[in-house]
Amino acid sequence: MRPLLLFYVLYLVCVCLGVLCVAFVSYWNHHWRGGFAWDGSGLQFNWHPVLMVTGLVVLYGNAAVLYRIPLTWGQNKLPWKLLHAVLMFMALIMSIVGLCAVFDFHNKGGTPNVYSLHSWLGISTVVLFTAQWALGLGVFLLPYSPVELRKLVKPVHVWMGSAIFILSIVSCISGINEKLFFSLKGGSNVTKPYSALPPEAVFANSLGVLIVAFGLVVLKILSNQTWERPEAGQVDGSSRPLLHDEN
Ligand code: HEM
Repeated sequence: MRPLLLFYVLYLVCVCLGVLCVAFVSYWNHHWRGGFAWDGSGLQFNWHPVLMVTGLVVLYGNAAVLYRIPLTWGQNKLPWKLLHAVLMFMALIMSIVGLCAVFDFHNKGGTPNVYSLHSWLGISTVVLFTAQWALGLGVFLLPYSPVELRKLVKPVHVWMGSAIFILSIVSCISGINEKLFFSLKGGSNVTKPYSALPPEAVFANSLGVLIVAFGLVVLKILSNQTWERPEAGQVDGSSRPLLHDEN
């Protein structure tokens, strides 16, 4: 298949998988977990997976592949830089609100904070993402930063971008697994145990598979050098793509 055609096929798959991830995580929490509220109850917790998957996986993944869309290559880069930064900012805000949902739920219910492997990985992901966003803003978007500094920081920004994305996926998978173990204990008429694979478990496992598939497609797009925004004819360092390897 021609590289351009392959890109658009993969991009379409990426968008469809992203929409499915958001639909699955919302339906899971609405249909099986009772829906949403902001009152310190389990319904408040339900915002956590929805905001984390939508923000740190789907929005983040789409913002990361933005520069790879060939249709944008002939155009001024600044609006795409701004869109990249705004989408990442929205992802950051969603992840912070998603964390507030679970911390508040834990505090109101007297549950200890940050004890699980999931929470350690999750908190590290959000801290790294916050640092990456602030550094990206200062170095790539604000006009005063010198070209030499951009050149120096870009490979780190590119590597950190993929690392944070992988960490987000790992956090989501561990979170889904943990939630299913907590919720599907069995021993009641309401839920069968996880091991009996009730419909909720099949659905939430499928959400995990969709998240992994989305991640693999995004990483495939990011790793293909033929889909990097070309630099030919661009003399100004400020117009270089953020997710482009320097060499
Ligand atoms: C990138 C995505 C995610 C990040 C960064 C993240 C982060 C966190 C953090 C930091 C906590 C600890 C809160 C506290 O100690 O009070 C937590 C708790 C929790 N999260 Fe997530 N989470 C993510 C996605 C998910 C998903 C998709 C689920 C699926 C339901 C989930 C389920 C849970 C559960 C059950 C807890 C409470 C138990 C615990 O503290 O481990 N998380 N999450």
